[in-house]
Amino acid sequence: MPRILDGVAIAAAIKQEVAEEVKLLIAQGIRPGLAAVLVGNVAASEIYVRNKVTSCAGLGIFSEQIAPPASVTTEEMLALVAQLNAREEIDGILIQLPLPAQVDTKALLDAVSPAKDVDGFHPINAGRLQANRPALAPCTPAGIIEILKRSGIPISGQHAVVVGRSDIVGKPAAMLLLHQNATVTICHSKTRDLGAITRQADILVAAIGRPGFITPEMVKPGATIIDVGINRLTDRAGFDRFFAGNAKREASFLKRGSTLVGDVDPKAFELAGAYTPVPGGVGPLTIAMLMANTLRAAKMRRGIQ
Ligand code: GUN
Repeated sequence: MPRILDGVAIAAAIKQEVAEEVKLLIAQGIRPGLAAVLVGNVAASEIYVRNKVTSCAGLGIFSEQIAPPASVTTEEMLALVAQLNAREEIDGILIQLPLPAQVDTKALLDAVSPAKDVDGFHPINAGRLQANRPALAPCTPAGIIEILKRSGIPISGQHAVVVGRSDIVGKPAAMLLLHQNATVTICHSKTRDLGAITRQADILVAAIGRPGFITPEMVKPGATIIDVGINRLTDRAGFDRFFAGNAKREASFLKRGSTLVGDVDPKAFELAGAYTPVPGGVGPLTIAMLMANTLRAAKMRRGIQ
């Protein structure tokens, strides 16, 4: 039986550590603060941002949610970011993506002060990460490393295959794994004979954004699988494709009208030595690492070790 890597428990441990450090800072008169910017009414984004703000409250971190309308312009967003960059009580600025089409997302991310860039999306932080210098690293990739380390899964010398090359997950995950001395291969939509490469993976990171994309034939038995995908299935055919005969999932699917599947076909997990489930794997780490980055940004900006 494969080992299930419990992201909820690992995230809780990290949050506990952050809360203890926040308490020490507060005793010195410093309260870390996060500004979360949520544009418009994208349902998934609303849930993510609510979870981020709630997490802050639980850890003693000040937070502020700013909600410009869906019609906001790039210029208005740039003015907002400039204000947040200048505010002393704000240590971290999070702009929830995706943004409406009329907003120039790259211009906006480039305008966030690198010192307050708790998502690690600014090119300065991407460059620092690449050069293995102290940097605010993107939360989901940083969470992947925490899951592996805290689960005692060796990284050094292992072949890590990352499927997906996004700036948010694939590329930074590959860089962090490389800095942990993994042998790293990055695959993407144009990769030829993908299965031949993923079958070499000791650590397989799936960050493609397509439900159940990684099938059992693509997995080396005993591999560690990190599933970054969060795909919502709402139709019966989709449910049956992955979860037919799974009574517990079916009850939840019938009650909610949907269920989540990652980028890995659940049948592929059966071959793994260890894997992160969906939900309850990588997802909770993204928020925990955002909290850790906000604490880190608060300390770095004040020159505290
Ligand atoms: N949208 C999806 N994932 C993320 C994330 O990690 N950060 C932000 N800001 N937006 C997202």
